[in-house]
Amino acid sequence: MISFDLKGKRALVTGAASGIGLATVELLARSGATVALNDLPGNDKLRTQVQRLTDEGLDVFEAPGNVADHASVQTFVHAALTRMSGLDYLVNNAGTPGTATPIAPDNFEQQNEAFWQKLLNVNLQGPARCTAATIDALRASGGSIVNTASTAGLIGNGSSAAYAATKAGLIALTKEYARSLGPGVRVNAIAPGIVESDWECRFDIPDSTLDSLPLKRKGQPEEFAEAIVFLLAAGRYITGHVLVLDGGLMTGAAHRSDVD
Ligand SMILES: NC(=O)c1ccc[n+]([C@@H]2O[C@H](COP(=O)([O-])OP(=O)(O)OC[C@H]3O[C@@H](n4cnc5c(N)ncnc54)[C@H](O)[C@@H]3O)[C@@H](O)[C@H]2O)c1
Repeated sequence: MISFDLKGKRALVTGAASGIGLATVELLARSGATVALNDLPGNDKLRTQVQRLTDEGLDVFEAPGNVADHASVQTFVHAALTRMSGLDYLVNNAGTPGTATPIAPDNFEQQNEAFWQKLLNVNLQGPARCTAATIDALRASGGSIVNTASTAGLIGNGSSAAYAATKAGLIALTKEYARSLGPGVRVNAIAPGIVESDWECRFDIPDSTLDSLPLKRKGQPEEFAEAIVFLLAAGRYITGHVLVLDGGLMTGAAHRSDVD
């Protein structure tokens, strides 16, 4: 486990009530940072987790709001940045599959207008909105941004074609922002493969698939968090990069039994 000294640093993490976002909050806060946790208003897990971490003496607070809503982003970002007197790190992690089970790419009925709008709004425009709302503060501190993309944005095969397209879009956005916001602000992304989390979409992943991965298991939220915090705080010559954390999924090993 890498350790960081982040005393005096201020972070905002979206989609922070569980999974990768929550693990990132924990690592940032245990490293000394003050952290604002954003998640959907009404998500009980947000209050529960903030209470638990506060009880442990960590410097965290809740910043509820919907990244899919412009006014909501303005409100929660303003509240968080006012309370912290600025911002050093933004983690655009909130995301949704919009479905409880995977949808085939050619299932146009389920991937209708409303589905597309929801996924684009949360997964792609959400990070753009949060970046726009925090950019003055990040420029002032010489801060950095990490976006949570997905291997689906690189090779597809996620919960739906629309989901894969939003994550591919987020990878493009990462590179666009990296190019235009440097040298003051660095912008990177992680691309998780299979994650052990409360993710709304349940995949039936047979043991044989996990077994065929070089690392033979799902990734734990803490493993993604470590990479996010590294990119935020330590990777000072890294920008516009997409760090794949997939246990070797993209080596193609998982598909070998299909062709052998
Ligand atoms: N779980 C996976 O297999 C997987 C794989 C690759 C990438 N990802 C990405 O990782 C990120 C985190 O997912 P996770 O696996 O930790 O799942 P998770 O469900 O534990 O966390 C996602 C969080 O985002 C929040 N959220 C959703 N919509 C929001 C909105 N509009 N505004 C604010 N918060 C919102 C949810 O309430 C939830 O707490 C997502 O961006 C997801 O696309 C997940």
